[in-house]
Amino acid sequence: MTEGSKKNILVLNGPNLNMLGTREPDIYGSETLDDINNNMISRAETLGYTIDFRQSNSESELVGWIQQCQGDTSAILLNAGAFTHTSVAILDALQTLDIPVIEVHLSNIFRREKFRHHSYVSPAANGIICGFGSNSYILALDAAHNILSKN
Ligand code: DQA
Repeated sequence: MTEGSKKNILVLNGPNLNMLGTREPDIYGSETLDDINNNMISRAETLGYTIDFRQSNSESELVGWIQQCQGDTSAILLNAGAFTHTSVAILDALQTLDIPVIEVHLSNIFRREKFRHHSYVSPAANGIICGFGSNSYILALDAAHNILSKN
């Protein structure tokens, strides 16, 4: 497969995920976001995808990236961080898309504080993967691949 024919998967990370590695390692593990990106790149190569891996602490930037992704993006994997529990704007942006969306969390949000049990992202997601640490991202990539190979 040539580089140009590869499908692109957008991986979006929300606020404070740039702090992975030092941020509450007992909850989020010791891997950095760069480590996660590198793991994703190797798995994506095996499956025949390119990865566009981004992080922002700004809700408006995340909404902008979601709006721009139509056309050359095959799927979105989204860890919206704390915006998961607050952002109708991210939900609305996702609902304009017609590509698979996989919601990702490192931690099992349902085992944590009650305010983390509700996700505004979930109604727009094909499915949710949470609680497997950095491996949640790999599982989400596999899930996206599974959906895309059926299309
Ligand atoms: C998180 C869970 C959220 O509740 C939290 O605000 C995060 C990270 C996770 O990956 O486990 O920032 O999305």
